[in-house]
Amino acid sequence: MKILVVGGGAREHAICDAVRRSKDAQLYSVMSNLNPGIKLLATDYLQENETNVEKIVQYAIEKKIDLVIIGPEAALEAGIVNELDKINIKSCSPSKEAARIETDKEWMRNLLKKYKIPGQLKCQTFTDSKKAKGFIEDLNGEVVVKPIGLTGGKGVKVAGDHFKDIRETLTYVKEVIEKKIGGKAKVLIEEKAVGEEFTLQAFSDGKNILPLHAVQDHKRLLPNDQGVNTGGMGSYSCEDGLLPFLSKGEYEEGAAILQKIIESLDKEGCRYIGPIYGQFMLTADGLKIIEINARFGDPEALNVLSLLDTDFVDVCKAMINNTLYSKKLKIKKKSTVCKYVVPEGYGIKSMIGEKIFVDEESIKKTGSRLFYASVNKENDFVTTSSSRSLAIVGIADNIVEAEKMCEKALTYVKGDHIFIRHDIGTPKLIQKRIDHMNQLRGM
Ligand code: AMP
Ligand code: GLY
Repeated sequence: MKILVVGGGAREHAICDAVRRSKDAQLYSVMSNLNPGIKLLATDYLQENETNVEKIVQYAIEKKIDLVIIGPEAALEAGIVNELDKINIKSCSPSKEAARIETDKEWMRNLLKKYKIPGQLKCQTFTDSKKAKGFIEDLNGEVVVKPIGLTGGKGVKVAGDHFKDIRETLTYVKEVIEKKIGGKAKVLIEEKAVGEEFTLQAFSDGKNILPLHAVQDHKRLLPNDQGVNTGGMGSYSCEDGLLPFLSKGEYEEGAAILQKIIESLDKEGCRYIGPIYGQFMLTADGLKIIEINARFGDPEALNVLSLLDTDFVDVCKAMINNTLYSKKLKIKKKSTVCKYVVPEGYGIKSMIGEKIFVDEESIKKTGSRLFYASVNKENDFVTTSSSRSLAIVGIADNIVEAEKMCEKALTYVKGDHIFIRHDIGTPKLIQKRIDHMNQLRGM
């Protein structure tokens, strides 16, 4: 079976790795950078912009591709799945319409309202910043300001983190509307949820879901959750599939919400096929939906795909054929700790073209997995670009051992201008999460 994976980041390297672990899969790739990990796994690749629908469709026809998997959200929004569908090439990713669950935040919130899905937050959209003032005041300024469309993770701003007061909040509201940040002269204002954030990813065939282990990502650049928001600096998951602050009941609540979203998308006439990603905030008042993504998370895909023992291509086929109900996932009962290596200055102004030496053999011997992201390979080193460079995933019986394994492997990654958030997955930071949740619950 010929499988084409679109995207050249660490998430896509993990997807390609899962594809190659399958019995009868031949891998093809379209990526904008030359990911050295993907290059090694693929039978053939095309270096092309991941939103160039025409070129990607042409490549899929030329290579007689049977199945396409799309990594990045921008490619979903560009409508690759719809165009491939017209020529009868199946994709294990949602159509442009179903992907609106991620690409149009107003539509997503309206869908939740219409189908009375639990975990909603107070929210409203505005096209006039003056009219937003009353809504923000009613929420005592405790709000989050979001552009409607995609902004590559950089458009959302949170009161307390990004705004000192309502005046600053309104300045940003005005900016989003006037500059049409996120594609529309409109802004979404949401109630700010306070708690611990986590990700729940699942496979969906349009009717049913199969959830994976819960993961906690770390968006802030600097240790102890300081600094700017990034695409994600690293993530962890636990051997029981839960998180140290998350109970089984709460996990199941999250899965039930994703299931209801899939059912409501089906009722809206846009059947959702592919991985779905729920970002939740566990608050003193239960689970709240922060966002829904129409794809795997990056880095969260690295945690869950590293543990998947079921043949990934079989799961993809079941998603397309609407037969997930007959499948049971085999997932390793292990903990994972993932840490990204990023260029110095990442999130502000990355140092581009810097050398990173990666001792792949020694990393492998630690038991860790290595996933390349936005780097270019030259001789015996890789060079940085503006985005994240590579990720290491430690996999062990418990989180303490997985974190140590990840750190051991990181000693085999050397560069003068790289940065790593070493605190991810450490007992100290995990205890902080537990204490925070206990404090909110009044325990
Ligand atoms: P997004 O770009 O939608 O992933 O949002 C970026 C980050 O903003 C999320 O990961 C959260 O940490 C934060 N955030 C978004 N919406 C809310 C909300 N309603 N309440 C609290 N934090 C939020
Ligand atoms: N890790 C956040 C995301 O993939 O959107």
